Amino acid sequence: MKNADLLTGITTTGTPHLGNYVGAIRPAIKSSKKKDKLSYYFLADYHAIIKCQKPERIIKSTLEVAATWIALGLDTDKSIFYRQTDIPEILELTWILSCITSKGLMNRAHAYKASLTQNRIDKRKDLEKNITMGLFNYPILMAADILMFNADKIPVGKDQIQHIEMARDIAVKFNNTYGKYFILPEAVVDEKIPILSGVDGRKMSKSYDNTIPLFESEKHLRKLIMKIKTNSLSPEEPKDYSTSILFAIYQAFAESNEIKEMKERYKKGIAWGVMKQELFELLNEVLKQPRQEYNKLIKSPDYIEDILKKGAQRAREYSVPFLGKIKKSIGIQIIR
Ligand code: ADP
Ligand code: TRP
Repeated sequence: MKNADLLTGITTTGTPHLGNYVGAIRPAIKSSKKKDKLSYYFLADYHAIIKCQKPERIIKSTLEVAATWIALGLDTDKSIFYRQTDIPEILELTWILSCITSKGLMNRAHAYKASLTQNRIDKRKDLEKNITMGLFNYPILMAADILMFNADKIPVGKDQIQHIEMARDIAVKFNNTYGKYFILPEAVVDEKIPILSGVDGRKMSKSYDNTIPLFESEKHLRKLIMKIKTNSLSPEEPKDYSTSILFAIYQAFAESNEIKEMKERYKKGIAWGVMKQELFELLNEVLKQPRQEYNKLIKSPDYIEDILKKGAQRAREYSVPFLGKIKKSIGIQIIR
């Protein structure tokens, strides 16, 4: 098996929403279709347990995320689609990397620092309160995800850039200590990808409970769209499309001629109710077919399990021999 030209992980803590699709799933599926490039996509369920201690939620999310990617057209034969916990080599590598990673580097990680800051804001005496070793070591697990497959390009959101830089630092340290085993991964952040807002106007995020899940029923999808915040301009007044949440979502799904037309309608004055209906119809049209596929898949967990198991088998064709080499390089091998 070949190393990963492209690799990314999806944390399994919730139901995929429009933002996840536009920001992560759609560009990844597009890349997975590129000829001569091998993409690795995985469900980061060991990452999920850092933030989420609700087992039933993780089980549900794992199935939902996998079904979503497949329903939206991920080619699971061409790319490698697997579950992190099916690759035990990743955890072995995590420990090996832990032993060469300085604690100082981890002290600088954003997620850890954000928790310290929160404790400071909450005026806690113990600034390390509620901070687990899982959270602290998170960047090392992520480095292992990446380095295990000698991944080259890592498409991520801006908040994850620091982790890729840490993975590079860790790879350099290993290479300098034991020999050049790892190639240095690079973060790929697509500035053109829009950040969608949720129904309350904040960034659409499962942490804010403001999402529009991708595969809601038609009825529920309409209900959620009707809830999106608008201003109080009267129906016939001209409106600014550049600040409109409805328009931003519309733009992320419409064809260029439809977008142009909609801009004109904003300038002339479009009633919010009409715009909401237009957005609903567009989304419903785009999502109808994958929604049917998703609903079928979600009822066939065995089928999904098979796909993930096959993906893991292929991934391990790379990770098992590669970990063998790594172990040998650090002085761990069977004595004969
Ligand atoms: P959430 O904020 O719902 O927990 P995640 O942090 O799990 O989402 O994000 C998973 C991926 O989806 C990330 O790569 C991120 O780039 C993308 N993403 C999340 N929310 C949005 C959004 N509102 N708009 C665009 N992309 C998003
Ligand atoms: N930490 C990433 C996130 O929260 C998910 C992730 C885990 C990941 N391992 C990865 C992304 C490796 C890219 C590469 O979004």
